[in-house]
Amino acid sequence: MADYNSDDDKSDRVLSPLVQEISQACEDYGFFQIINHGVPENLCERMMISVTEFFQLHHEERAHISSNDRTKPVRVSNFYLKEGQDKVTMWSETFSHPWHPIDDFIHLLPKNPPQYREVIGAYAKVIGALMNRLLSLISQGLGLEKDFLQRKLGEKPSLNAQANYYPPCPDPELTLGLAAHTDIGGLTILRQLEGVTGLQVIKDGKWVAVEPVPNAFVINVGHQIQVMSNGRYKSVHHRAVTNKQRPRVSLAMFYSPNKDTIVGPIEDLVDEEHPPLYRNYHYAEFIEEFRRQEGTRRRVKEVFEI
Ligand code: OGA
Ligand code: NI
Repeated sequence: MADYNSDDDKSDRVLSPLVQEISQACEDYGFFQIINHGVPENLCERMMISVTEFFQLHHEERAHISSNDRTKPVRVSNFYLKEGQDKVTMWSETFSHPWHPIDDFIHLLPKNPPQYREVIGAYAKVIGALMNRLLSLISQGLGLEKDFLQRKLGEKPSLNAQANYYPPCPDPELTLGLAAHTDIGGLTILRQLEGVTGLQVIKDGKWVAVEPVPNAFVINVGHQIQVMSNGRYKSVHHRAVTNKQRPRVSLAMFYSPNKDTIVGPIEDLVDEEHPPLYRNYHYAEFIEEFRRQEGTRRRVKEVFEI
């Protein structure tokens, strides 16, 4: 658990305890939670309520943006039982849309619940600032200039949000809410509903629950930061399980490079002792490989290993 208030930004050479703690977590878990982050709790609550209300509208109200076509910037997908299937794939529904520049997309976002557009607009702004701060702390943890990772991830990053809705499940033993996966991009800031567990992370071959902490964000490293850090920071598998009693809601804000960005190990992190583990590639190539491995226990990074 990283306490933002322990961040002393004064020294350039000595790593602050906060930077060290985050760095250690990125190496050991690829996940950590933050508190005292400065994002107003009230705004986060309004965001979670808006997301919940959106999913609790009659599904007909979401039908016009319901699609499995990944090229659609704003879309709802559900994994519930479809005609002709005898098994559900996952017990959840997702809503994805870009979160920056929000003004370019706001007209595509739901009109209902009526506050959705306003709340996501405000939330995206503060998450943008938090994201930059985290990228700066993570850069420092790698011994780099504060703005290094942000520059490396490119001037026009691809910023998408994914809201996840997990209704109560009659038999949680039979299905997962969200299948085990890794986040493909750079960094993820996840808000989860207080009081309902579901997120699990793999650690030493075992699934460990990420318990919701009041007013905390869960942060996790994506594949691109693993590659840029030359394998020092880990992008780890995680999943969500369901429960019988209560619906669970989460909102992931992803920060990824754009398709044209060249990704590879940062030169300053490569030397004789630490030879490059990955080759350079265009992010578009990585996405293509990620999609090609859809439905398998993906091994995408391996394709780019040297
Ligand atoms: C995701 C994700 C976890 C959760 O959206 O990528 O990992 O708790 N979500 O819903
Ligand atoms: Ni994820």
